[in-house]
Amino acid sequence: MTLEGAVNVPGDKSIGHRALLFAALGDGPGRVEGLGAGGDLASTRRALGQLGVAIRAEDGAFVVDGVGLRGLRAPAEPIDCGNSGTTLRLLCGLLAGQTGDFTLDGDASLRRRPVLRVTRVLAPFGGRFTVAGDHPPLTVHGGALRGATVHTGIASAQVKSAALLAGLLAEGPTAVTEPARSRDHTERMLRALDVDLWTADGTTHLQPPASLPARAWQVPGDLSSAAFWLAAAALLPGSDLTIRRVGLNPTRMGFLDVLVAMGADVEAVVEGEGCGEPMGHVRLRSAGLKGARIDGDLALRSLDELPLVAVLGALAEGETVVADAAELRVKESDRIGAMAAALTAVGARIEARPDGWRIEGRDALAGGAVAAAHDHRVAMAMQVAGLRSQGPVIIDDPAVAAVSYPGFFEALQARLRGAVEESER
Ligand code: S3P
Repeated sequence: MTLEGAVNVPGDKSIGHRALLFAALGDGPGRVEGLGAGGDLASTRRALGQLGVAIRAEDGAFVVDGVGLRGLRAPAEPIDCGNSGTTLRLLCGLLAGQTGDFTLDGDASLRRRPVLRVTRVLAPFGGRFTVAGDHPPLTVHGGALRGATVHTGIASAQVKSAALLAGLLAEGPTAVTEPARSRDHTERMLRALDVDLWTADGTTHLQPPASLPARAWQVPGDLSSAAFWLAAAALLPGSDLTIRRVGLNPTRMGFLDVLVAMGADVEAVVEGEGCGEPMGHVRLRSAGLKGARIDGDLALRSLDELPLVAVLGALAEGETVVADAAELRVKESDRIGAMAAALTAVGARIEARPDGWRIEGRDALAGGAVAAAHDHRVAMAMQVAGLRSQGPVIIDDPAVAAVSYPGFFEALQARLRGAVEESER
């Protein structure tokens, strides 16, 4: 069984959230093309609807009736962010500078995720919040903001972006420093909107604009969704798979470096731009995988893909160590614990550590029943693990994949069935 040919993946989730938010703040109707159909982006659309922003589907795109920088309206009901941490945390920054009180809430997973990291960074802007402990629900008390100089204290694009969005609505300049470089979509997209914003020595400076122009965004494919295909191809000897029209932002490309470190043959070619972001194709030809050590900046640049790295490590020759990734414990699930439990259940040799895993690779897994921990990336990573298992891998909640990639299982199965039929012809 091999994976060959070319696939398209859904629009980038991180960029999609931002395109919707910036369109909502624009002067007049903006357009978002190529938006992914996943549950998290639906959460941002629904939240904006609750905030008084009309969004309608038109020819496969979304038209967003921008209400201007400070035109969001406080709903009487709590705003439901579903499973989406990005929706909730970015809205904290954006709503801090609006008029009224806004309660943000979400599902059981979101109610376990930390928010003080955001509210703390927003306090110097004059942001006011009511929250019991460190988790949603929380209430944002909107009001006038002043520009601030802040340190995020953590390499988190969500925290950094919340601060930049507060700065966008504030009076006077803002400077945001982060300890290591997290994904920079907010910065790129604000520059594409002609906002006076620049980054030097780990600090991003922003001068608030009087207004944001309405524009059309073309969202590139999501490299984090492509990663499941690339990992699948890397695990199937003889594969040669291309992902088309995918985002190639350097702050997101760590997983490609991991694949190369583990022995895969990977080519990434920038062919154009969308949303101020490089985009192009990635081609992977499989080769025998070997263990690797993933830590520091590389762990940060491949953070969302580390569940897949655990799968690759479980099936690579020798030892794989993932370190400096304690943030995985506060994602949609405790991904360190969830992946260690799921991979152990299918016969992998994996030890969970506070900030990652130590894994002894083997040729094939046994298969078995696994818990996806209500986490889309765990569910899809274990589906990929099933490609090199002697028995089936049975996932308790495969539908959770729809948070970022509806139809992934079906698309992968259809592609593999096609490959088998082709080889039998
Ligand atoms: C995201 C940032 C990342 C990532 C998440 C999406 C974003 O989280 O894990 O899936 O769109 O800003 P951090 O805030 O930890 O960087």
